Amino acid sequence: MRRNIIAGNWKMNYNLSETEDLISKLVSGLKDEKLNCDVIICPPFTSLSLASSLTKSSNIKVGAQNLYFEDNGAFTGEISASMILGAGCEYVIIGHSERRTIFAENDEIINKKIKKALSSNLKPIFCVGETLEERESGITKEIIKRQVVNGLKDITEKNLENIILAYEPVWAIGTGKTASPEQAQDVHNFIRGIISNIYSKSSAEKLIIQYGGSVKPDNAKELLSQDDIDGALVGGACLKAESFIAIIKAS
Ligand code: PGA
Repeated sequence: MRRNIIAGNWKMNYNLSETEDLISKLVSGLKDEKLNCDVIICPPFTSLSLASSLTKSSNIKVGAQNLYFEDNGAFTGEISASMILGAGCEYVIIGHSERRTIFAENDEIINKKIKKALSSNLKPIFCVGETLEERESGITKEIIKRQVVNGLKDITEKNLENIILAYEPVWAIGTGKTASPEQAQDVHNFIRGIISNIYSKSSAEKLIIQYGGSVKPDNAKELLSQDDIDGALVGGACLKAESFIAIIKAS
């Protein structure tokens, strides 16, 4: 039985005092709750240490939004896996569509980042998703398959246990347009089939596949009730404690 994971991707939002404010609301709002899911927050790099210390004795875990695949050296502006680990993180988002489009990350770079995360004891939240143009041209599954297969290249079945997949249709991110529960379920089920082919049926059954793209308190329950949807990667709605907690409770 898979346990849902709800993760909040803060993107490039919140300085230290705003981080403290949001986390204190989340910690107190979730303190006495018996949750049916695990909760992760992914603030910007500058807030990671603070987030880790503020969530230390809570039921919230911390992740980063990106890493660089080299260990150290002349890579101005980049952050390594060990730095993220040292800041108290357990997770790292890799291959988000904003990284793919705005920062030109391709499948090969994403694969290197996933491998670096795994070898550093960080759990990747590996994002895949098609653009509107790709969906309208009827090539959604082809794109998803390419991203999944290339992103997981040379990753062992054992290591797959430490990976969370996130299906995020690009046309649904930050647009207020959500994939219908049926559209999302269809792709999630397809991804599970790919995993079953590459690895095994039992690995596919164990894999957590989150949905992301305009998840809100009012659509979370329906999406999360789909057989192959095991949680959510939440952007906009994770920036306010009230809406993020409502999504967590819908799980
Ligand atoms: P959104 O973002 O919830 O604002 O659509 C999701 C994401 O980018 O992970």
